Amino acid sequence: MKTFKEELQQRTETINRELMRFLPEEKGMQKLILEACNYSVENGGKRIRPLLMESAYFLCRLSQEPEACGQAGEPEALRERWREAYETLLAPFMAAIEMIHSSSLVHDDLPCMDNDRLRRGKPSTWARFGEDMGTLAGDGLMIYAFETAVKAMDLRETKLLSASAESREAASMMIRNYTEQAGDRACRVINGVDILARKTGIFGMIGGQTVDVQLTGKTPSEEELSFIYRLKTGALLEAAMMIGGVLAGASEDTVAKLRLSAADLGLAFQIQDDILDETGTEADLGKPVGSDERNQKTTYVTLHGRTQAAEEVKKLTERAEARLREIGDYPFLLDLCAYLIDRRN
Ligand code: IPE
Ligand code: IPE
Ligand code: MG
Ligand code: MG
Ligand code: MG
Repeated sequence: MKTFKEELQQRTETINRELMRFLPEEKGMQKLILEACNYSVENGGKRIRPLLMESAYFLCRLSQEPEACGQAGEPEALRERWREAYETLLAPFMAAIEMIHSSSLVHDDLPCMDNDRLRRGKPSTWARFGEDMGTLAGDGLMIYAFETAVKAMDLRETKLLSASAESREAASMMIRNYTEQAGDRACRVINGVDILARKTGIFGMIGGQTVDVQLTGKTPSEEELSFIYRLKTGALLEAAMMIGGVLAGASEDTVAKLRLSAADLGLAFQIQDDILDETGTEADLGKPVGSDERNQKTTYVTLHGRTQAAEEVKKLTERAEARLREIGDYPFLLDLCAYLIDRRN
Protein backbone atom coordinates (compact mmCIF):
# COMPACT_ATOMS: atom_id res chain seq x y z
CA MET A 1 0.00 0.00 0.00
CA LYS A 2 1.48 3.34 -1.09
CA THR A 3 1.65 6.32 1.24
CA PHE A 4 -0.24 9.44 0.26
CA LYS A 5 3.02 11.19 -0.65
CA GLU A 6 4.10 8.33 -2.93
CA GLU A 7 0.71 8.26 -4.61
CA LEU A 8 0.73 12.03 -5.03
CA GLN A 9 4.16 11.87 -6.64
CA GLN A 10 3.09 9.11 -9.00
CA ARG A 11 -0.07 10.95 -10.06
CA THR A 12 1.86 14.18 -10.56
CA GLU A 13 4.31 12.34 -12.83
CA THR A 14 1.44 10.89 -14.87
CA ILE A 15 -0.13 14.33 -15.19
CA ASN A 16 3.23 15.79 -16.27
CA ARG A 17 3.53 13.13 -18.97
CA GLU A 18 0.01 13.84 -20.22
CA LEU A 19 0.67 17.58 -20.13
CA MET A 20 3.85 17.25 -22.22
CA ARG A 21 1.87 15.39 -24.91
CA PHE A 22 -0.19 18.51 -25.51
CA LEU A 23 2.54 21.15 -25.58
CA PRO A 24 3.18 22.71 -29.00
CA GLU A 25 6.32 21.97 -31.01
CA GLU A 26 8.87 24.74 -30.81
CA LYS A 27 9.28 25.50 -34.49
CA GLY A 28 8.39 28.02 -37.16
CA MET A 29 8.90 31.76 -37.37
CA GLN A 30 7.19 32.29 -33.99
CA LYS A 31 9.44 29.70 -32.26
CA LEU A 32 10.32 32.17 -29.48
CA ILE A 33 6.80 32.45 -28.10
CA LEU A 34 6.43 28.67 -28.27
CA GLU A 35 9.61 28.31 -26.21
CA ALA A 36 8.32 30.88 -23.71
CA CYS A 37 4.94 29.13 -23.43
CA ASN A 38 6.50 25.71 -22.90
CA TYR A 39 9.03 27.13 -20.44
CA SER A 40 6.19 28.52 -18.31
CA VAL A 41 4.37 25.18 -18.20
CA GLU A 42 7.34 22.82 -18.02
CA ASN A 43 9.08 24.47 -15.08
CA GLY A 44 7.37 22.43 -12.38
CA GLY A 45 4.48 23.42 -10.18
CA LYS A 46 2.35 21.27 -7.92
CA ARG A 47 -0.25 20.57 -10.64
CA ILE A 48 -3.03 20.97 -8.09
CA ARG A 49 -5.70 21.90 -10.61
CA PRO A 50 -5.25 18.83 -12.88
CA LEU A 51 -4.97 16.69 -9.74
CA LEU A 52 -8.29 18.05 -8.49
CA MET A 53 -9.87 17.56 -11.90
CA GLU A 54 -8.68 13.95 -12.11
CA SER A 55 -9.82 13.25 -8.55
CA ALA A 56 -13.26 14.80 -9.09
CA TYR A 57 -13.59 12.69 -12.25
CA PHE A 58 -12.67 9.49 -10.38
CA LEU A 59 -14.95 10.40 -7.45
CA CYS A 60 -17.93 10.82 -9.79
CA ARG A 61 -17.24 7.72 -11.86
CA LEU A 62 -16.79 5.65 -8.72
CA SER A 63 -20.12 6.88 -7.38
CA GLN A 64 -21.75 5.74 -10.67
CA GLU A 65 -19.94 2.38 -10.78
CA PRO A 66 -19.79 1.05 -7.22
CA GLU A 67 -18.28 -2.22 -8.51
CA ALA A 68 -15.08 -0.23 -9.25
CA CYS A 69 -14.77 0.95 -5.64
CA GLY A 70 -12.44 -1.92 -4.80
CA GLN A 71 -9.92 -0.23 -7.12
CA ALA A 72 -10.28 3.22 -5.53
CA GLY A 73 -6.84 3.00 -3.92
CA GLU A 74 -5.15 2.05 -7.22
CA PRO A 75 -4.91 4.97 -9.64
CA GLU A 76 -3.30 2.79 -12.35
CA ALA A 77 -6.26 0.40 -12.21
CA LEU A 78 -8.74 3.27 -12.46
CA ARG A 79 -6.87 4.85 -15.35
CA GLU A 80 -6.80 1.48 -17.10
CA ARG A 81 -10.49 0.88 -16.44
CA TRP A 82 -11.42 4.17 -18.09
CA ARG A 83 -8.35 4.47 -20.33
CA GLU A 84 -10.03 5.66 -23.52
CA ALA A 85 -11.90 8.45 -21.72
CA TYR A 86 -8.89 9.29 -19.54
CA GLU A 87 -6.55 9.80 -22.50
CA THR A 88 -8.89 11.40 -25.01
CA LEU A 89 -11.44 13.29 -22.91
CA LEU A 90 -9.99 14.07 -19.49
CA ALA A 91 -6.31 14.57 -20.38
CA PRO A 92 -6.87 17.47 -22.83
CA PHE A 93 -8.80 19.31 -20.11
CA MET A 94 -6.22 18.54 -17.42
CA ALA A 95 -3.56 20.00 -19.74
CA ALA A 96 -5.78 22.98 -20.57
CA ILE A 97 -6.42 23.98 -16.95
CA GLU A 98 -2.71 23.81 -16.13
CA MET A 99 -1.93 25.96 -19.19
CA ILE A 100 -4.44 28.56 -18.05
CA HIS A 101 -3.08 28.52 -14.52
CA SER A 102 0.49 28.85 -15.83
CA SER A 103 -0.56 31.75 -18.06
CA SER A 104 -2.07 33.48 -15.03
CA LEU A 105 1.24 33.14 -13.19
CA VAL A 106 3.16 34.50 -16.20
CA HIS A 107 1.02 37.64 -16.18
CA ASP A 108 0.89 37.86 -12.36
CA ASP A 109 4.71 38.08 -12.24
CA LEU A 110 5.00 40.88 -14.83
CA PRO A 111 6.54 44.18 -13.68
CA CYS A 112 3.14 45.90 -14.10
CA MET A 113 1.57 43.36 -11.72
CA ASP A 114 3.51 41.75 -8.83
CA ASN A 115 6.93 42.36 -10.40
CA ASP A 116 8.39 39.01 -9.32
CA ARG A 117 11.49 37.57 -10.96
CA LEU A 118 11.37 34.06 -9.55
CA ARG A 119 8.73 31.40 -10.24
CA ARG A 120 8.88 27.69 -9.49
CA GLY A 121 12.56 28.04 -8.63
CA LYS A 122 13.52 29.59 -11.99
CA PRO A 123 13.51 33.08 -13.52
CA SER A 124 9.87 34.02 -14.17
CA THR A 125 8.90 34.04 -17.84
CA TRP A 126 9.31 37.80 -18.35
CA ALA A 127 12.65 37.77 -16.47
CA ARG A 128 13.88 35.05 -18.83
CA PHE A 129 12.30 36.15 -22.15
CA GLY A 130 11.63 39.87 -21.64
CA GLU A 131 8.47 41.74 -20.78
CA ASP A 132 7.12 41.75 -24.35
CA MET A 133 7.46 37.99 -24.73
CA GLY A 134 6.14 37.46 -21.20
CA THR A 135 2.95 39.31 -22.11
CA LEU A 136 2.55 37.46 -25.41
CA ALA A 137 3.37 34.07 -23.91
CA GLY A 138 0.69 34.57 -21.22
CA ASP A 139 -1.86 35.48 -23.90
CA GLY A 140 -0.71 32.69 -26.20
CA LEU A 141 -0.87 30.04 -23.51
CA MET A 142 -4.32 31.08 -22.37
CA ILE A 143 -5.69 30.68 -25.89
CA TYR A 144 -3.71 27.52 -26.58
CA ALA A 145 -5.44 26.01 -23.55
CA PHE A 146 -8.74 26.23 -25.44
CA GLU A 147 -7.22 24.75 -28.59
CA THR A 148 -6.09 21.90 -26.34
CA ALA A 149 -9.40 21.35 -24.54
CA VAL A 150 -11.21 21.11 -27.87
CA LYS A 151 -8.96 18.19 -28.82
CA ALA A 152 -11.31 16.22 -26.56
CA MET A 153 -13.70 16.29 -29.52
CA ASP A 154 -11.30 14.08 -31.44
CA LEU A 155 -13.61 11.09 -31.66
CA ARG A 156 -11.69 7.88 -31.58
CA GLU A 157 -14.94 5.97 -31.48
CA THR A 158 -15.10 6.37 -35.26
CA LYS A 159 -13.48 2.96 -35.25
CA LEU A 160 -16.94 1.65 -34.35
CA LEU A 161 -18.11 2.59 -37.83
CA SER A 162 -15.33 0.80 -39.62
CA ALA A 163 -16.00 -2.44 -37.73
CA SER A 164 -17.73 -4.83 -40.06
CA ALA A 165 -21.41 -5.29 -39.32
CA GLU A 166 -23.06 -8.63 -39.91
CA SER A 167 -26.31 -7.19 -41.24
CA ARG A 168 -27.95 -3.92 -42.23
CA GLU A 169 -29.77 -3.87 -38.86
CA ALA A 170 -26.54 -4.35 -36.97
CA ALA A 171 -24.92 -1.57 -39.01
CA SER A 172 -27.75 0.89 -38.37
CA MET A 173 -27.70 0.00 -34.66
CA MET A 174 -23.98 0.75 -34.60
CA ILE A 175 -24.53 4.09 -36.29
CA ARG A 176 -27.32 4.97 -33.83
CA ASN A 177 -25.12 4.05 -30.87
CA TYR A 178 -22.26 6.00 -32.33
CA THR A 179 -24.42 9.09 -32.88
CA GLU A 180 -25.70 8.92 -29.31
CA GLN A 181 -22.20 8.53 -27.91
CA ALA A 182 -20.81 11.31 -30.06
CA GLY A 183 -23.67 13.62 -29.10
CA ASP A 184 -23.21 12.92 -25.41
CA ARG A 185 -19.49 13.46 -25.67
CA ALA A 186 -19.94 16.73 -27.59
CA CYS A 187 -22.28 18.01 -24.83
CA ARG A 188 -19.73 17.20 -22.13
CA VAL A 189 -16.89 18.87 -24.05
CA ILE A 190 -18.88 22.02 -24.83
CA ASN A 191 -20.02 22.23 -21.21
CA GLY A 192 -16.38 21.83 -20.09
CA VAL A 193 -15.14 24.53 -22.46
CA ASP A 194 -17.91 26.86 -21.29
CA ILE A 195 -16.90 26.40 -17.64
CA LEU A 196 -13.23 26.85 -18.51
CA ALA A 197 -13.91 30.11 -20.34
CA ARG A 198 -16.20 31.59 -17.69
CA LYS A 199 -13.93 30.72 -14.77
CA THR A 200 -10.88 32.11 -16.57
CA GLY A 201 -12.35 35.34 -17.89
CA ILE A 202 -13.71 38.63 -16.66
CA PHE A 203 -16.21 36.90 -14.39
CA GLY A 204 -13.55 34.52 -13.09
CA MET A 205 -9.79 34.61 -12.52
CA ILE A 206 -9.16 37.75 -14.61
CA GLY A 207 -11.96 39.60 -12.80
CA GLY A 208 -10.34 38.71 -9.46
CA GLN A 209 -6.88 39.78 -10.60
CA THR A 210 -8.39 43.08 -11.77
CA VAL A 211 -9.79 43.97 -8.35
CA ASP A 212 -6.59 42.68 -6.68
CA VAL A 213 -4.52 45.12 -8.78
CA GLN A 214 -7.02 47.98 -8.38
CA LEU A 215 -6.96 47.73 -4.60
CA THR A 216 -3.20 47.35 -4.26
CA GLY A 217 -1.96 49.80 -1.64
CA LYS A 218 -5.50 50.31 -0.32
CA THR A 219 -7.40 48.50 2.41
CA PRO A 220 -10.11 46.37 0.87
CA SER A 221 -13.23 45.58 2.86
CA GLU A 222 -13.89 42.00 3.97
CA GLU A 223 -16.35 41.71 1.08
CA GLU A 224 -13.83 42.98 -1.48
CA LEU A 225 -11.12 40.66 -0.22
CA SER A 226 -13.45 37.70 -0.38
CA PHE A 227 -14.44 38.69 -3.94
CA ILE A 228 -10.76 38.84 -4.95
CA TYR A 229 -9.89 35.44 -3.44
CA ARG A 230 -12.98 33.67 -4.73
CA LEU A 231 -12.25 34.86 -8.23
CA LYS A 232 -8.50 35.14 -8.66
CA THR A 233 -7.82 31.73 -7.11
CA GLY A 234 -11.14 30.02 -6.35
CA ALA A 235 -12.50 30.25 -9.90
CA LEU A 236 -9.87 27.97 -11.46
CA LEU A 237 -10.19 25.42 -8.65
CA GLU A 238 -13.95 25.48 -9.23
CA ALA A 239 -13.39 24.97 -12.95
CA ALA A 240 -11.07 22.04 -12.28
CA MET A 241 -13.52 20.14 -10.10
CA MET A 242 -16.66 21.04 -12.03
CA ILE A 243 -15.09 19.93 -15.31
CA GLY A 244 -13.98 16.66 -13.71
CA GLY A 245 -17.64 16.08 -12.77
CA VAL A 246 -19.07 17.19 -16.12
CA LEU A 247 -16.71 14.94 -18.10
CA ALA A 248 -17.67 12.03 -15.86
CA GLY A 249 -21.34 12.68 -16.70
CA ALA A 250 -22.25 13.71 -13.13
CA SER A 251 -25.68 15.20 -12.34
CA GLU A 252 -26.20 18.97 -11.99
CA ASP A 253 -26.63 18.51 -8.27
CA THR A 254 -23.25 16.77 -7.98
CA VAL A 255 -21.51 19.41 -10.10
CA ALA A 256 -23.02 22.09 -7.84
CA LYS A 257 -21.58 20.29 -4.78
CA LEU A 258 -18.19 20.09 -6.48
CA ARG A 259 -18.34 23.82 -7.17
CA LEU A 260 -19.13 24.73 -3.57
CA SER A 261 -16.45 22.42 -2.28
CA ALA A 262 -13.86 23.86 -4.68
CA ALA A 263 -14.88 27.42 -3.78
CA ASP A 264 -14.02 26.72 -0.14
CA LEU A 265 -10.81 24.97 -1.10
CA GLY A 266 -9.87 27.93 -3.31
CA LEU A 267 -10.37 30.41 -0.51
CA ALA A 268 -8.37 28.20 1.85
CA PHE A 269 -5.68 27.78 -0.80
CA GLN A 270 -5.20 31.54 -1.25
CA ILE A 271 -5.15 32.22 2.50
CA GLN A 272 -2.52 29.49 2.88
CA ASP A 273 -0.57 31.10 0.00
CA ASP A 274 -0.66 34.41 1.91
CA ILE A 275 0.55 32.70 5.11
CA LEU A 276 3.41 31.09 3.19
CA ASP A 277 4.29 34.46 1.65
CA GLU A 278 5.17 35.52 5.23
CA THR A 279 6.41 32.30 6.78
CA GLY A 280 7.86 30.23 3.92
CA THR A 281 11.33 30.17 2.46
CA GLU A 282 12.33 31.02 -1.09
CA ALA A 283 13.88 27.56 -1.41
CA ASP A 284 10.62 25.82 -0.48
CA LEU A 285 8.30 28.15 -2.37
CA GLY A 286 10.39 28.64 -5.52
CA LYS A 287 9.06 32.22 -5.57
CA PRO A 288 10.05 35.32 -3.60
CA VAL A 289 8.84 35.57 -0.01
CA GLY A 290 7.40 38.87 1.15
CA SER A 291 5.98 39.71 -2.28
CA ASP A 292 2.67 40.80 -0.74
CA GLU A 293 4.30 43.20 1.71
CA ARG A 294 6.56 44.64 -0.98
CA ASN A 295 3.52 45.23 -3.16
CA GLN A 296 1.49 46.67 -0.25
CA LYS A 297 -1.19 44.01 -0.57
CA THR A 298 -3.80 43.71 2.12
CA THR A 299 -4.32 39.99 2.65
CA TYR A 300 -6.38 37.83 4.99
CA VAL A 301 -3.22 37.50 7.09
CA THR A 302 -2.55 41.23 7.39
CA LEU A 303 -6.21 41.78 8.32
CA HIS A 304 -6.68 38.94 10.82
CA GLY A 305 -3.24 37.64 11.81
CA ARG A 306 -1.66 34.25 11.13
CA THR A 307 -3.46 32.29 13.84
CA GLN A 308 -6.94 33.24 12.69
CA ALA A 309 -5.88 32.76 9.07
CA ALA A 310 -4.71 29.20 9.81
CA GLU A 311 -7.98 28.47 11.64
CA GLU A 312 -9.95 29.73 8.67
CA VAL A 313 -7.97 27.50 6.28
CA LYS A 314 -8.81 24.50 8.46
CA LYS A 315 -12.49 25.40 8.79
CA LEU A 316 -12.95 25.96 5.06
CA THR A 317 -11.16 22.72 4.22
CA GLU A 318 -13.33 20.71 6.61
CA ARG A 319 -16.45 22.15 5.02
CA ALA A 320 -15.12 21.30 1.55
CA GLU A 321 -14.37 17.72 2.66
CA ALA A 322 -17.85 17.28 4.12
CA ARG A 323 -19.41 18.26 0.76
CA LEU A 324 -17.18 15.80 -1.09
CA ARG A 325 -18.23 13.00 1.26
CA GLU A 326 -21.83 13.68 0.26
CA ILE A 327 -20.92 12.74 -3.33
CA GLY A 328 -19.12 9.51 -2.62
CA ASP A 329 -16.16 7.81 -1.07
CA TYR A 330 -12.79 8.57 -2.60
CA PRO A 331 -10.11 8.79 0.12
CA PHE A 332 -7.34 10.19 -2.11
CA LEU A 333 -9.32 13.38 -2.72
CA LEU A 334 -9.82 13.91 1.02
CA ASP A 335 -6.10 13.31 1.61
CA LEU A 336 -5.35 15.85 -1.11
CA CYS A 337 -7.51 18.44 0.66
CA ALA A 338 -5.74 17.75 3.95
CA TYR A 339 -2.34 18.01 2.24
CA LEU A 340 -3.22 21.49 0.92
CA ILE A 341 -3.52 22.75 4.53
CA ASP A 342 -0.09 21.49 5.53
CA ARG A 343 1.75 22.26 2.31
CA ARG A 344 5.01 24.15 2.51
CA ASN A 345 4.97 25.38 -1.07
C1 IPE B 1 0.01 29.94 -7.06
O1 IPE B 1 -0.62 28.75 -7.37
C2 IPE B 1 -0.93 31.08 -7.28
C3 IPE B 1 -2.11 31.03 -6.45
C4 IPE B 1 -3.30 30.95 -6.97
C5 IPE B 1 -2.03 31.09 -5.01
P1 IPE B 1 0.06 27.34 -7.02
O2 IPE B 1 0.49 27.35 -5.58
O3 IPE B 1 -0.84 26.26 -7.44
O4 IPE B 1 1.35 27.39 -7.95
P2 IPE B 1 2.17 26.20 -8.62
O5 IPE B 1 1.42 25.81 -9.85
O6 IPE B 1 2.31 25.07 -7.65
O7 IPE B 1 3.50 26.82 -8.97
C1 IPE C 1 -2.22 35.25 -7.77
O1 IPE C 1 -2.13 35.42 -6.40
C2 IPE C 1 -3.30 34.39 -8.18
C3 IPE C 1 -3.32 34.28 -9.66
C4 IPE C 1 -4.42 34.30 -10.31
C5 IPE C 1 -2.09 34.11 -10.42
P1 IPE C 1 -0.65 35.72 -5.89
O2 IPE C 1 -0.08 36.92 -6.56
O3 IPE C 1 -0.65 35.71 -4.39
O4 IPE C 1 0.12 34.42 -6.40
P2 IPE C 1 1.68 34.16 -6.18
O5 IPE C 1 1.94 34.23 -4.70
O6 IPE C 1 2.41 35.20 -6.95
O7 IPE C 1 1.90 32.77 -6.68
MG1 MG D 1 -0.77 38.64 -7.53
MG1 MG E 1 2.00 37.12 -7.30
MG1 MG F 1 0.89 34.92 -3.16
